[in-house]
Amino acid sequence: MDLKGRDFLTLADFSQDEIWYLLQLARDLKEKQKAGIPHEYLKGKTLAMIFQKASTRTRVSFEAAMYHLGGFPMFLSKNDLQMGRGEPIEDTARVLSRYVDGIMIRTYSHKEVEDLARYASVPVINGLTDDYHPTQALADLLTIWEHKSALAGLKLAYIGDGNNMAHSLLLGGALMGMEVVVASPEGYQPSAAVVKRAKALAVDGEKIKVVIDPKEAVQEADVLYTDVWASMGQEEEAAIRKKALAQYQINQELLKHAKKDAIVMHCLPAHRGEEITAEVMEGPQSVVFDEAENRLHAHKAILAAVIK
Ligand code: CP
Ligand code: NVA
Repeated sequence: MDLKGRDFLTLADFSQDEIWYLLQLARDLKEKQKAGIPHEYLKGKTLAMIFQKASTRTRVSFEAAMYHLGGFPMFLSKNDLQMGRGEPIEDTARVLSRYVDGIMIRTYSHKEVEDLARYASVPVINGLTDDYHPTQALADLLTIWEHKSALAGLKLAYIGDGNNMAHSLLLGGALMGMEVVVASPEGYQPSAAVVKRAKALAVDGEKIKVVIDPKEAVQEADVLYTDVWASMGQEEEAAIRKKALAQYQINQELLKHAKKDAIVMHCLPAHRGEEITAEVMEGPQSVVFDEAENRLHAHKAILAAVIK
């Protein structure tokens, strides 16, 4: 499988075989790391990492990943770049492409990332936009595969805001043959265009659903997933969102309606007492820290696969 030179903007840009290739590579790189086997596949390569929003996991795991692969990561916050003073993305893309072998970006507008990819001659990796969070979703698929030994046929119930995370899980889950049911209140449901795309990617479009009732969504679910009620950039809406999404919490009572061996996931950072209770987050069904660890291994796979 050759993914050299490919951008990583959404999971829908890849085939099911390509995602399996990345997941297998991630697992292989994880084993190598645990066994202390060097895997410096990107010796002498450089990665520019542009962050217009805060990050703990994405920043640190990409930086560590690049180092483990023998390459060099450059952290660039919006204050460090001329982009922050209005330099056009097209110019930034062409200039950075002359220096580095790949660009990772976390920003607001998804179009900005698409523009960056259009003008860059090196691979561009989407480290989160308002619309998608594909590197997280890849790590999530890896985590589900590890815990459930399969992806196809499993049911994932996403409870809460129909945000970037819901979008990426809809696309990734559909592509890998999973059933994905999102429960969100009116006004906070995932974009109709993304749901339509997920249905088209799925073998059976009926397996991709948006419902109102969280209890309905989690029936027979193998995986329960949630994310913050107010994403980065929505801080001013936090109070109104807290009210609107109050019934969309993963708690012990909701968990009773899923399969007995269901796992609970959250991309983190979590707000205990809001979208998830502390009891569930710290409970035996939670895999949130395995999930967070897998960012590192999934990112290594993406970097090793796409950087030339
Ligand atoms: N899950 C995730 O992307 O976390 P950070 O915002 O800390 O990178
Ligand atoms: N939906 C969240 C995810 C954070 C990793 C946000 O965009 O802030």
